[in-house]
Amino acid sequence: MIRIYRVDSYDEMSRRAANIVSAQVIMKPDCVLGLATGSTPQGLYRLLAERCRAGDLDFAEVCTVNLDEYQGLSPEDGQSYRRYMRENLFEHVNLRPENTHLPDGLAADAAAECARYNAVIAGLGGIDLQLLGVGNNGHIGFNEPGAAFENETHLVALTESTVQANARFFKSPDEVPKHAYTMGIGSIMRARRILLVASGADKADALYRALHGPITPVLPASVLQLHGDVAVVADRAALARFPEA
Ligand code: F6R
Repeated sequence: MIRIYRVDSYDEMSRRAANIVSAQVIMKPDCVLGLATGSTPQGLYRLLAERCRAGDLDFAEVCTVNLDEYQGLSPEDGQSYRRYMRENLFEHVNLRPENTHLPDGLAADAAAECARYNAVIAGLGGIDLQLLGVGNNGHIGFNEPGAAFENETHLVALTESTVQANARFFKSPDEVPKHAYTMGIGSIMRARRILLVASGADKADALYRALHGPITPVLPASVLQLHGDVAVVADRAALARFPEA
């Protein structure tokens, strides 16, 4: 089932999403949160940090698993997702460092790293609440439009357009990662609950097709129609193609 929360602004999206994550943490203090990077969740992470500082949220027993990480970047690299998570959330809340998990961008053996990450998720008992953003081509994690839904953690070759879009963050084109690890569609779909956040007009088409179009790997987010518990928190611009409630 998909429940859509239509809000007016990015800030309201962040607040409503933070309420859902907070409720999860309060109801199950030792829950497993699946986390995303990108610009959409930054406001939500800021609010979680504020609530933790105020004493309203406690992450001491929470574990986290992130969706994805670039291959070849060290955890310290300014563009790594580990670094993003540290700066946007981890260093502002009382999560134990050993309870935060991302794929290891520097792993020597990619297949072994994928197996290790799958085992980490399974060992934690699965994901209670998975946070997702959506790409304007409908990707979730780094599951890009393709011919099939890939189930488990795997290494993806980034599309030329993604590599070019990322180039602005790096000093030279050679430094731009060409591959990334991502949880698969199966790992995401096994999460007990899913929270998808979206903001802005450039998400409107993907969001509409994800929730109303055919279920197809051509638009990876469309698979969410098959999940039993999805909350979508999105602003009016992102929901522009949906009829007004
Ligand atoms: C990030 C991730 C991506 C983003 C998506 C939206 O870990 O897996 O799928 O959620 O690209 O990114 P933003 O929020 O920057 O629009």
